[in-house]
Amino acid sequence: MTAPQQTRQDVTVDFDIYDPALADPVDVFQERAAELAAKGPVVYSTAHGGHWIVTRYQEIQEILRDTETFSSYPNNLVTNDAFGKFIPVELDPPEHTGYRKALQPIFGPARMKKLSDSIRTVVNELLDEFARDGEAEYISAFAHELPARIFLALMDWPIEDAPLFSEATNVVLFGKPVGTEQESLEARAGAGVQMLGYFEKMVDERRANPGADITSQLIHTEVELVDGFRLLTDEELTRMFFLLLIAGLHTVQGSLAWAIVHLVNNPEQRQQIVDDPGMIPDAVEEILRVEAAVVPGRRATRDVELGGMSIAAGDQLILMLCSANRDDSEFDDPRHVDIARRPNRHLSFGGGAHRCLGSHLARIELTIALEEIHRRIPDYALVESDPPVFHATSVRGCARLPIRFTPEG
Ligand code: HEM
Repeated sequence: MTAPQQTRQDVTVDFDIYDPALADPVDVFQERAAELAAKGPVVYSTAHGGHWIVTRYQEIQEILRDTETFSSYPNNLVTNDAFGKFIPVELDPPEHTGYRKALQPIFGPARMKKLSDSIRTVVNELLDEFARDGEAEYISAFAHELPARIFLALMDWPIEDAPLFSEATNVVLFGKPVGTEQESLEARAGAGVQMLGYFEKMVDERRANPGADITSQLIHTEVELVDGFRLLTDEELTRMFFLLLIAGLHTVQGSLAWAIVHLVNNPEQRQQIVDDPGMIPDAVEEILRVEAAVVPGRRATRDVELGGMSIAAGDQLILMLCSANRDDSEFDDPRHVDIARRPNRHLSFGGGAHRCLGSHLARIELTIALEEIHRRIPDYALVESDPPVFHATSVRGCARLPIRFTPEG
């Protein structure tokens, strides 16, 4: 006898990815995600006008590979139509292809390897600031600063501009923590305009004084787009820079924080890393697997069956990469953190046409950071009276993480 077909009502859940209650304690988001996955590969939430939540590895891979059926716009449940689309992440092929090709050489593994020495220098400069103190607020002192400075180095923009980014991107991503929803939306739009203004200024400057840097290169290289072979417009460039900034900041910040928390909770694995830093690249993959930061969105372009559910054209979906990464049909003992896990085909960088362009950069940043942290302050611990503060939303992460350690002597 075949099991009766489930309906949308059967799999309707109470889950809002923006609910602050999903941020604290650290495990709550994953616990809720596991409950959703246990209910089905595709469940339905009434939040934000109603949307599907895809929880399992196979169905998420199907979606990532089928850009015709699942459009990348909007990628976010809370979208400001007036702002327009982020390039390239919210464009579908064939429109997407040319922009992605323009960005690819910037993030290629060869170029990223060259950046390694500068990354190690920045990591050690940041550690120099607090390694003798025996304590630090790890996010503001390190995990936030590192990707912000590397982004500026990558683009060849002034390092002094880092604080501007930090504040405005926080507001763009998370709104205003205090105030009404309307105030929060307005603050978001204001911060977005401020960022666009900054990017426009950088484009103007490099148009007038081109150099060998990436910004100049992007401005002056003709790209094959659907409307022909041409230079990118200022509007396209600023939208691209905005996405590059947002894509590389909180994702790396969160992953750097989860690395600390998971290694504190698994002291014998931390000792293995200290004894043999050659294990760090695999450990990085495992940290990325257990806590995928991004929850991408898609919109169905036609009626389609997925995971036993009938999705209608126009329906919105979100992809729980973090629960796909804990799917036992793909991973043995998926809740266990195993820093030597192989194979480790996690979906934290997405897949298909939009697979993360910054994955090489992110891996290098995380690897070098963990190498230097475990060389210089290996006995870090959390501060019980001042526990870490995590946040949910479509880019999960960590806002605050006080640590203590033996000061460098
Ligand atoms: C741990 C760090 C990171 C994680 C977990 C991550 C995750 C992701 C994911 C899941 C996507 C696909 C989104 C989708 O399919 O809708 C993506 C796309 C992207 N990421 Fe990352 N990312 C990280 C770091 C970075 C960095 C450092 C950069 C560059 C500065 C970057 C640049 C991009 C870009 C440009 C795209 C869009 C690619 C496209 O649409 O073709 N990411 N990332």
